[in-house]
Amino acid sequence: MTIQFSQKEKSLLMDQKEHEEGCVDKYAKYANQAQDAELKQLFTSYSAQEQEHLNSINQMLAGQIPAMGGQQKQGQQAQNQQQTAGGNQGQMSPTVQGNYNQEDAKLCKDMLMTEKYVSSVYNTAIFEFRDTNVRQVLNHIQKEEQEHGEGIFQYMQSKGMYQVQ
Ligand SMILES: [Fe+2]
Ligand SMILES: [Fe+2]
Repeated sequence: MTIQFSQKEKSLLMDQKEHEEGCVDKYAKYANQAQDAELKQLFTSYSAQEQEHLNSINQMLAGQIPAMGGQQKQGQQAQNQQQTAGGNQGQMSPTVQGNYNQEDAKLCKDMLMTEKYVSSVYNTAIFEFRDTNVRQVLNHIQKEEQEHGEGIFQYMQSKGMYQVQ
């Protein structure tokens, strides 16, 4: 069974395809540029997840509903726990302000803005789709974009890059 998309639906998926391609490339490029090994690893894993988003969008453009794997989710939870543990460690010692790599902080801020934008575009797009399964896939991806934003925030906070007012 293949899904038939309206012109509008198709064009929204094409937009998201472009955004996901941009995210795959940006995270890969920034993983190379990052000085901190932990940030390199974070960006590398997010680049791989953006590739999965891109695959899902391409599958839908081909008329198929992608299977939402539980495996990916488990991996992510483990990663989040790791990040939380790191964050707690940081809170135990006083935060040294300004003692972080300024260029790494710029990469983080840029990706936070990108995730915020991509997430908001998914939110708007979801309202236009007629098929419940398609909405669920888009919603699943959007949730992961929010989790990327959270992961970056937690990294920044643990390094004293993000001062909570
Ligand atoms: Fe994505
Ligand atoms: Fe993302």
